[in-house]
Amino acid sequence: MSKKFYITTPIYYPSASPHLGHAYCTTMCDIIARGKRLRGFETFFLTGLDEHGEKIQKNAEAKGISPQEFVDEVALKFTNLWETLKISNDDFIRTTEPRHYETVQKIFSDFVAKDDVYLSSYKGWYCVHEESFWTETQVGEEHVCPDCGRPVELKEEPAYFFRCSKYVDGLVKYYDENPKFITPEGRKAEMINNFIKPGLNDLCVSRTTFSWGIPVKESEGHVVYVWLDALTNYITALGYGQENNENFKKFWLDEDCEIVHVIGADITRFHTIYWPMFLKALDLRQPSRVFVHGLMMMKDGKMSKSKGNVIPVPPLVERFGVDAVRLYLCREIVFGQDGQFTPEQFVERLNADLANNLGNLLNRTVSMINKYFDGIIPSFKADLNDLDKNIHELAEKTVKSYEYLNDELKVTEAYASVFDLVSAANKYIEDSAPWALAKDPEKKELLESCMAHLAAVIYLAGTLLSPILVTKSEKIFDQLGVTPELRNYEDAQRFGALDGLKVVKGEQLFPRLDATVEIEYIKQLMAAPKEKAAA
Ligand code: MSP
Repeated sequence: MSKKFYITTPIYYPSASPHLGHAYCTTMCDIIARGKRLRGFETFFLTGLDEHGEKIQKNAEAKGISPQEFVDEVALKFTNLWETLKISNDDFIRTTEPRHYETVQKIFSDFVAKDDVYLSSYKGWYCVHEESFWTETQVGEEHVCPDCGRPVELKEEPAYFFRCSKYVDGLVKYYDENPKFITPEGRKAEMINNFIKPGLNDLCVSRTTFSWGIPVKESEGHVVYVWLDALTNYITALGYGQENNENFKKFWLDEDCEIVHVIGADITRFHTIYWPMFLKALDLRQPSRVFVHGLMMMKDGKMSKSKGNVIPVPPLVERFGVDAVRLYLCREIVFGQDGQFTPEQFVERLNADLANNLGNLLNRTVSMINKYFDGIIPSFKADLNDLDKNIHELAEKTVKSYEYLNDELKVTEAYASVFDLVSAANKYIEDSAPWALAKDPEKKELLESCMAHLAAVIYLAGTLLSPILVTKSEKIFDQLGVTPELRNYEDAQRFGALDGLKVVKGEQLFPRLDATVEIEYIKQLMAAPKEKAAA
């Protein structure tokens, strides 16, 4: 299996402040990246901002500041949010940085020189919001944007075009030969039926109607169309076309590196049709996978400020902790499917997984080891009965499914399997009835074995959950007395690694939340922006 891994989020538009939807995508990528690092993969995790385009220019004008000042302000909000959520990205690319800017100009010139890009003129229906041209059929009789439903306008302008016709056959062949390239698979049929089969027009790759973009060197007045600018971030951040290109060699050129782009469904077309064509034109390998995650919705549909259903993430983190918010995002919204945020499910999920399941297991185990063995974890000897054997086998099986499911990007399922192990360990306590074993001196060995198994399972579960529980897993280890050198993936799989260590009863790590109070609290958070707007 490949031991190198490169994962990217979309680069977000800093046209407004980040919300829970952006947080969702970035957090999931972070959980995946941390999971790979835990297992020893050399990992590079990239996120960033897509800072050019007409919308940003207009927003800046409306505020009376320069587009650069505007994006600088919003960029801070994004980087602050990533810090709050403990996102472990290795780089943060902004498309206004010289390293990106200059490389995009080189790529554009390269395309012109090879005649992959040519100058012509464009007439079509244009949606300012989506920054996209559409055909007559796509806008229909009402002349509205098929993506966002806003009215479109007829526009003609001189423009450069990318020769899609030259690459389309190769693209379909690539899909056929790499069935996992687009995941979930249903998205592939959508691309073929909606975009490729009806006939793909050459893609317009420059604009003359606004100036906030990377200038085309070949022709004054043109700026590079945002999608050619934006998509190339995935290679310019690694150093493509620059002097320092070590990361590019390691994480792109090396065929052994798995490359995963995680995106929302709204931008599938750009990542699975145009991006592979640009790469082909650059004579570069394709990403291994484009993974399309679902939308995070609210009860009344998409999140939007005007509806007053936007949840500000920082106060949520402040109240419930970063681990809790990350856990909710990963567990409650199946990765690859749409999900809905409700305050009720948020609180219920935290109580079920953390307070009732993991927290309960930890508290009971630490208390019993204190009570029966003065806090010293008994040595693991063997599986003494079927109960021991079953939980031990389940622990080993869980590691295997955790790895397999994570590699398949079935991230929600991967972590569900760890919580299943935790539930099974709680049941193992009930079935083993250590309180009864403790009363009979002849059953001492069974009692020791039970505690050794429990400590081993918590140590393993805490390790497997560490990509989500970025602060609490360390506290779990503190309570189990796990020494710093033992806090690694290999030792965590070894029953007996904790023999003789001393547990430390600490603070309650996952207290039960009062559902009525907390649901009310979240509802207030959601209502706040609406009230502000009304005021
Ligand atoms: N700038 C482009 C992407 C260029 S990538 C080379 C863009 N930016 S965006 O700010 O609109 O962000 C889009 C991405 O944000 C989506 O693809 C998705 O990953 C994420 N999300 C935005 N709103 C979301 C939800 N409500 N729910 C889940 N993800 C959401 O498109």
